[in-house]
Amino acid sequence: METKSSMYLSLLPLWFLCFIIINLVSSSSSTRYDDHIPLRETNEEEDVHFPKNFLFGTASSAYQYEGAYLSDGKTLSNWDVFTNITGKIADGSHGKVAVDHYHRYPEDLDLMEDLGVNSYRFSLSWARILPKGRFGDMNMEGIYHYNRVIDAILKRGIEPFVTLTHYDIPQELEYRYGSWLNPQIREDFEHYAEICFRYFGNRVKFWSTFNEPNVQVILGYRKGTYPPSRCSKTVGNCTRGDSEIEPLVAAHNIIRSHLAAVSIYRTKYQEQQRGKIGIVMNAIWFEPVSDALADRLAAERAQAFYLTCENCRFLDPVVFGRYPREMQEIFGEDLPQFTKDDLKSSKNGLDFIGINQYTSRYAKDCLHSACEPGQGGSRAEGFVNANALKDGLALGEPTGVDWFNVYPQGMEEMLMYATERYKNIPLYVTENGFGENNTGVLVNDYRRVKYMSSYLDALKRAMRKGADIRGYFTWSLLDNFEWISGYTIRFGLYHVDFNTLERTPRLSASWYKNFIFQHRAQSQNDDA
Ligand code: FCB
Repeated sequence: METKSSMYLSLLPLWFLCFIIINLVSSSSSTRYDDHIPLRETNEEEDVHFPKNFLFGTASSAYQYEGAYLSDGKTLSNWDVFTNITGKIADGSHGKVAVDHYHRYPEDLDLMEDLGVNSYRFSLSWARILPKGRFGDMNMEGIYHYNRVIDAILKRGIEPFVTLTHYDIPQELEYRYGSWLNPQIREDFEHYAEICFRYFGNRVKFWSTFNEPNVQVILGYRKGTYPPSRCSKTVGNCTRGDSEIEPLVAAHNIIRSHLAAVSIYRTKYQEQQRGKIGIVMNAIWFEPVSDALADRLAAERAQAFYLTCENCRFLDPVVFGRYPREMQEIFGEDLPQFTKDDLKSSKNGLDFIGINQYTSRYAKDCLHSACEPGQGGSRAEGFVNANALKDGLALGEPTGVDWFNVYPQGMEEMLMYATERYKNIPLYVTENGFGENNTGVLVNDYRRVKYMSSYLDALKRAMRKGADIRGYFTWSLLDNFEWISGYTIRFGLYHVDFNTLERTPRLSASWYKNFIFQHRAQSQNDDA
């Protein structure tokens, strides 16, 4: 049987022809940055100060923090059901209790107040508010709970920065119609979003519709390692799914759901409530593995595919009303189409972009050159092989966590890329933080401090170059349930003993407190 690489080799002359044509087209049109707003002049000497209203915060999500998985009228979410399946989570754990933030939020907010943060990014549990989606009643206990949380946040002089869904949805929607694979989900999301705007919007001024839909789609529908565990048999260990087509469909329904929520917010609530609405993306930076043009183009493709979602793209449709050129070229007619209504609401479909930036990878071209079979070789990944290693050496510094290398330069590059591609739109770094395996480091987390300090420096470099960055949220205040890694990876400024749930400050907590304090003092001086 013909192997994949010999098949690629036999097609080399054809690849070569495509290569020349694509290069000619891309160099002649160079459409990517055509329409960007020129950045402010840079002055390398200038020390950038964070403006007074810059948001410094910590970030969390409902499933990873809350626990109380069946309390006060909440029903099962997709993650409650998924974690119950043997073998899905590294340590066999779940978020039934997590760090019990549902009950301990006052204590946790006190910790935040002590750090001096002025914002808290968290997500609402959809299954707590609408246990059966639009097929059942609102759960008033859920509404009261979040009312109390929001009031407690504001009472401490902290600004709530709220995500509507951070991977978790009511399982009911999965059972009823296959959740994101069905266009019906848009009605459910719209209904849910409107309830949140109506009940909380008088106090919440920052909304994000989705957290990392790119990760949700890749892991849920391409690789099948997150719920609903769907993928092709050739890609992963799933009983059902189609890794080529379903990610496109799920992503399309997510984009349309985002647009519907934004449209409701804009037409019915925004003027009166005066808030902002955006979306949060996982934003890995890609460095070309070599200087070859093909690898440089591969890095651009990876960026376009990944940021706007590996094989589905989120931001271009929301900002420009169309999928990116790179995707159109590769998917052609398989790309789902937007309706006229979608396109209408996609005008200014965002007030800001949330960037979750942790790490970077090398990108190697697989379009014009032969790649080993495996991750990255297919059109779903844009014919890019993304790898943290080059000739056996890591990009940046490995952390011991497989997906995660320290590469602060990637933060600067990513912020500049988003700034240029999306016309200097306001950006919030909605997540950045350091995770390490349960190595026994209790409080002396020097590596986390070094990581945060170098990434914040990179963020400042991007500000100096003119990027409009308005906030930074570290992931996370507390160690918590890290999805399929369970409790084996720790990200907290506070150590959590998962038996007693006791919170103990690490070095990084006092470092962050001091960092925020210094910058507050500086901005007050600037004002004086
Ligand atoms: C991000 C997720 C967040 C957390 C961090 C470590 O991708 O949004 O929930 O798991 O990674």
